[in-house]
This record gives sequence, C-alpha cells and structure tokens, in this order.
Amino acid sequence: MTEPLGHLFRIEPLSPKHVREGFACGVDALDRYLASQAGQDSKRSYASNFVAAELSSGRVCGFYTLSMAGVAVGLLPEPLQRKMPRYPSVPAVRLGRLAVAVTAKGRGLGKWLLLDAMARSLASEVAWAAFVVDAKDETARSFYLQYGFLALADDPLHMFLPRATVQAAFSAGGGTVGPQPQQNHCKRLPK
Ligand SMILES: CC(C)(COP(=O)(O)OP(=O)(O)OC[C@H]1O[C@@H](n2cnc3c(N)ncnc32)[C@H](O)[C@@H]1OP(=O)(O)O)[C@@H](O)C(=O)NCCC(=O)NCCS
Repeated sequence: MTEPLGHLFRIEPLSPKHVREGFACGVDALDRYLASQAGQDSKRSYASNFVAAELSSGRVCGFYTLSMAGVAVGLLPEPLQRKMPRYPSVPAVRLGRLAVAVTAKGRGLGKWLLLDAMARSLASEVAWAAFVVDAKDETARSFYLQYGFLALADDPLHMFLPRATVQAAFSAGGGTVGPQPQQNHCKRLPK
C-alpha cells in the first residue's frame, strides 16, 4: 500500500546539502556507492544521481542513477528487431542503480523514484529508444517485472522497456516531474 509522499520527500539532483551518512538499503554495494562514489560520478558526468531527500532533514532516503547507454540490437526480442533500422545498436537510458532505505521501504518511494527517472528521461532532448535497468538480483528483477520490463537476451537481470511503452504510460501532458507520484501523470505501467 502506497501513501502520499510529496509532503515528506523531494526528488532532486544529488548535491552537497544532502545527508548521505547512514543510508542503508540492505545492499552494501549500493550503500557504498552512495557514500563514496555518487558525488564523483555526478561531478564527472559518468552518471546523474537523483535522491529522494526527506524535507525535514535533507536525509537521503532513496536514490537512483541515470546515464546514456547503447543496447546491441541482437539483444532485443525478435519482433522488435524487425521494426528497427539496420543499426548495430539502439540508444538507451540506463537506470544503473535504484535503492530505498530500509526505513522507508514499502511506502511507494521505489515506484516514485522509478517513475521520476522515466519522466526525466522522457523530458530529455537526447534521443533514446530503450529504458534499461540492471537488476542486482532476483528480488530486484521481480520488482521490475511487475512494471512489464522484459529481459535482454544476454542476461535475465539485464532488462528494458521500449520508449513507446514508457511514453504510453504517461498521459498527454506527461513527462513532467511532480512532487507526488500521481503528479507524474503516469497511468499504470503494464503488469
Ligand atoms: C526494490 C526497492 C527499490 C523497492 O523500493 P520500495 O520503496 O520498497 O518499493 P515500493 O514501496 O515503491 O513498491 C512499489 C510496488 O512494488 C512492489 N514491490 C516492492 N518490492 C518488490 C519486489 N522485490 N518484488 C516485487 N514487487 C515488489 C510493492 O509491493 C508495490 O506494489 P503495489 O504498487 O502494487 O503496492 C527496494 O526494496 C530496494 O532498495 N531494494 C534494495 C536495492 C535493490 O534491489 N534495488 C533494485 C535495483 S538495483
């Protein structure tokens, strides 16, 4: 069961004002990344980091990373390949990391972060045709499966949604990043 979250958190680019100390999502590698690598990656443009910051304290309760990527056409499902021009790869956005603090789980923050990442990607003027995620394990994979993500041919944990599917999930005025998940104007992503 999710709850309104906009009065508790704001999703925004990571900056020095955010309190990262103590963030724990249950996956050490993600905790370490936020603590020691995320700032550098943002500064050097290796990845854009966005955080769900608690309004009252600035404490980070969730985060995700976005970067540009390419997907070899041969990894996409056959029916999709047939519709594509004969390029070796298609441009993609990669949601490399997504994590919610154990203290904030189960309230809809993970879903809000995912929708926010999609909305920001749709708002970008850089072309992309696939929204790619790297699920860390089977639990993460099951999280993405419920939103209709499909496996790429190289690894069941390497998953994607076609841009058209992401776009269709947002209404005509969609793609705007709002203070509430509902205000992302997102219809249900396919199950
Ligand atoms: C996966 C994760 C981001 C989910 O965050 P969360 O805030 O607890 O998720 P939400 O509360 O937004 O859940 C949204 C929906 O997903 C469901 N859900 C949550 N975790 C799930 C899982 N592992 N498998 C299937 N469904 C899941 C919820 O029941 C909810 O369903 P509903 O909309 O029908 O009520 C969080 O558990 C996490 O940080 N895990 C550790 C890191 C990780 O695995 N990251 C994923 C990619 S690397």
